[in-house]
Amino acid sequence: MSTDKWTADETAVHFQGRAPEYIARAEKAAAHPFAMATLPMPLGGAQNLLEAAWWLIEKKGRPQRVLDFGCGCGQFFKFFTTGLGITSYRGLDASEPAIAAANKIWGEYFRVMDLRMYPARAPLKKADLAFCHGVLMHLPAAAAQTTATLMRLTAPLQMVIEMTRPRPEDNLAPHIFIHDYTKLFGTMILKSPLNEYKDIFIFENPKRQVTGD
Ligand SMILES: C[S@@+](CC[C@H](N)C(=O)[O-])C[C@H]1O[C@@H](n2cnc3c(N)ncnc32)[C@H](O)[C@@H]1O
Repeated sequence: MSTDKWTADETAVHFQGRAPEYIARAEKAAAHPFAMATLPMPLGGAQNLLEAAWWLIEKKGRPQRVLDFGCGCGQFFKFFTTGLGITSYRGLDASEPAIAAANKIWGEYFRVMDLRMYPARAPLKKADLAFCHGVLMHLPAAAAQTTATLMRLTAPLQMVIEMTRPRPEDNLAPHIFIHDYTKLFGTMILKSPLNEYKDIFIFENPKRQVTGD
């Protein structure tokens, strides 16, 4: 798909239109007990996220601060806080209705930010882990690169869950871009047994420690 046809606001407008669907998903997550033995249910394509997160914690220690890039209505808030015991969570998204809903459902942990505007809207507080699920695949190469850079600068560890195969028919998003994530992040990819899943990537910036500022 040509990136020429992509217009700056198209993605955000599309998701504003789908806000009720994302709100419903977040409310479902809010009602979920998140017992650690069970996989959180409404996680879209991230079926192996729990396994990936525990692998990461075992290897690198439990992150204290997570930043969720393109967080939507915050369907992962409870996963990180109640589920993984991460004490500080912040979510960022360009969609105002999504952020308004997230703040209503979970508390004031979310703020509106268009990731393409970096560095104009920076600085962001540093985190241990930058997380992103199903966002970069909606952004063309330049915007995805900007976001990847922002994530890399913000946290020493980045967990990226994005589609690496062509769009399934039931995905109605106007644009799906399949990026080369190892190229986009340019940091060290942590070799995990999860690599076989192909859509979960964990990167480490070797210049920063997990406990760094
Ligand atoms: C498929 S949804 C995924 C939402 C969330 N990560 C989840 O898994 O529920 C894509 C999200 O990316 C957000 N998004 C798209 N372009 C963005 C941008 N330029 N800056 C910030 N967020 C953006 C949309 O508003 C939408 O909430």
